[in-house]
Amino acid sequence: KNIVILISGRGSNMEAVVHAAREEQWPARIAAVISNKADAKGLEFAQSHGIPTAVVANKEFATREAFDAALQETIDRFAPDLVVLAGFMRILTPGFVAHYDGRMLNIHPSLLPLFPGLHTHQQALDAGVARHGATVHFVTAELDHGPAVLKAEVDVLPGDTPDTLAARVLVQEHTLYPRAIRLFVEDRLSIANGDVRIADKTNI
Ligand code: GRF
Repeated sequence: KNIVILISGRGSNMEAVVHAAREEQWPARIAAVISNKADAKGLEFAQSHGIPTAVVANKEFATREAFDAALQETIDRFAPDLVVLAGFMRILTPGFVAHYDGRMLNIHPSLLPLFPGLHTHQQALDAGVARHGATVHFVTAELDHGPAVLKAEVDVLPGDTPDTLAARVLVQEHTLYPRAIRLFVEDRLSIANGDVRIADKTNI
């Protein structure tokens, strides 16, 4: 299976996926890492690991539609079976999302449906929740509302700041996202009519 990973910055989730794919010998390869920002830190990691990279800079396009069309063309050159959004900070057009229906995943740093959008750790602290975490979900047209695949939880601790909470959630993200993607490349994860199906739940 071919996986294309989209990033905008640090790329630590992308790194975790690259490592897991190699160490666990997935029936898959990371075909490309694509960023909407030329200075995304994660591009250096991908290059140093022999993974093809590309930049499609959103600021060079006048409209979201034009950007998404260029992005789609670049992604499709790598014939992906799965598109993985890993800290990719762009809102996607409905046409783009539809093109990758059932084969695009995102990781969001909250227990969805709680706290979609930005500043999720601040949102969690403001709401006073006792548990917080991250969700891997299929991407649908409505931002951060696609059907959930897997979640990981952490306790919110006294004295937590958005940064301490984010750091604790990120540790979980780095095992959660590879687990979900592995299910997909092993043909154990699918979505039909908005229902996520995981085959053989004994080993996830
Ligand atoms: C992660 O917390 C991810 O859940 C969110 O943005 C952050 C990206 O971090 N969407 P990284 O680029 O993977 O290090």
